[in-house]
Amino acid sequence: MLETFRIGLLLVVVKGGERPVNEVNHARFAGAWRGVGRNNLRGHGVHFPGLLGREERELCRCFGFHGVLRVLVRVDGERIVDAKPIIGYLHRGTEKLIEHKTYMQAMPYLDRLDYVATMNQEHAFVLAIERLRGVEVDPGDIFITNGAQQGLSVVSQLLLNPDSPVIVEQIAFTAIGQVIHERGAMPLTVGTDLDDGIDVDNVEYLLKLTGQVRAIIEIPDFHNPLGVSIAEHNRTRLVDLSFRYRTPIVEDDPYGLLRYEGADLPPLKAHDVDGGIIYLGSFSKILAPGLRLGWAIAPRPVLGKLTVIKESQDLETSQLTQRAVAEFIRRGLLAAHVEKLKVAYAVRRTAMLDAIQRDFPPEAKWSKPKGGIFIWVTLPEGVNTLELLPKSVEEEKVAFIPGYAFGINGGGESSMRLNFSNATPEVIDEGIRRLGKIVRTALSTNQPIHV
Ligand SMILES: Cc1ncc(COP(=O)(O)O)c(C=O)c1O
Repeated sequence: MLETFRIGLLLVVVKGGERPVNEVNHARFAGAWRGVGRNNLRGHGVHFPGLLGREERELCRCFGFHGVLRVLVRVDGERIVDAKPIIGYLHRGTEKLIEHKTYMQAMPYLDRLDYVATMNQEHAFVLAIERLRGVEVDPGDIFITNGAQQGLSVVSQLLLNPDSPVIVEQIAFTAIGQVIHERGAMPLTVGTDLDDGIDVDNVEYLLKLTGQVRAIIEIPDFHNPLGVSIAEHNRTRLVDLSFRYRTPIVEDDPYGLLRYEGADLPPLKAHDVDGGIIYLGSFSKILAPGLRLGWAIAPRPVLGKLTVIKESQDLETSQLTQRAVAEFIRRGLLAAHVEKLKVAYAVRRTAMLDAIQRDFPPEAKWSKPKGGIFIWVTLPEGVNTLELLPKSVEEEKVAFIPGYAFGINGGGESSMRLNFSNATPEVIDEGIRRLGKIVRTALSTNQPIHV
């Protein structure tokens, strides 16, 4: 059994006793980080795995807000994923290696764990999963990645150069900002409607105005962090614009299969007529992030170029993992598993929405996602959630991600991202009750906090 999500970045009630803190290490880290300014860190994740209670307070003290942004808070939440078939397969492979002492002796059992060209790897699982998503894919258009993040990285290396204009939502997944900044590209940001998704009028305006936009990077369904999906009528419009202005869309779609309400909407890729959409998929949110397995779908000439870029990073993605996941899907376990997740997450989403309605002040506004794992809450302007975070962790043992982390060119300062997939409905209920207290106090002091 694996926990579905051990990634943190979530709202969660911190449980358990306090662990000893290594003051020396903290002091050393603090020294290393002291000179790093807010802008240097913007979009660059700071990762501190497995920290609890007092350690978080230490982090707040040592690093200010940065240290807590990506703290991995563990909770003994319900375990949803039955990943025994995957683990069993990986075990058999590794046991053969141990038993036979050398790779050469184990090879007959491992069935050619040799270098394999990226374009000749396990594709069966991608075909199966895309069918679930309503897209028929040519196996020759599939490219295996170590997760959607690697997809974003290799595609941005292909498309973006210093100062390349790229259209992206003003509030978007941190690592999208990361790859744009890493390439030195110029983000042209557009707003997002919490019902209809990306502001397509503004996309059209920018395409017309700029002429040379290199890409539109978009999360079409159950957006991270906003939780929103693009409305049906806007999907074809966006694809038409991409076609008309010869601007590729990078469709980042890790959450599309996690819909709890309403009819399934095919991804943008399903409307692609000329190969202008590079689609990125991932097993991180439907199996386990630690598998590090994802895929891209793109026209063959693009895949050839992506292969060269990926080879410079890691040559290829683990075949053992690919085979284990392919086996999981071959046994027909994936669809049932996704259904199980959807039932559990739908309950958690409703628990969180109900609790927010009950405990947050009327001035707060929040998204009501029909799927995915995130809710975006916006407080009145002037309330700075970055400032609220240490207080919330320290006084109430509740963590969230301050909205500022997702502002591609700034923005999100009075918002927060809450995650509902990682905790039981009871923990969510209690967590929101505590967080509501923090938020109400911040608003009632009537002294907006400024950084
Ligand atoms: C929108 C989005 N894209 C990409 C990723 C990265 O996914 P992966 O674990 O497959 O690299 C995430 C992970 O949170 C995400 O939310």
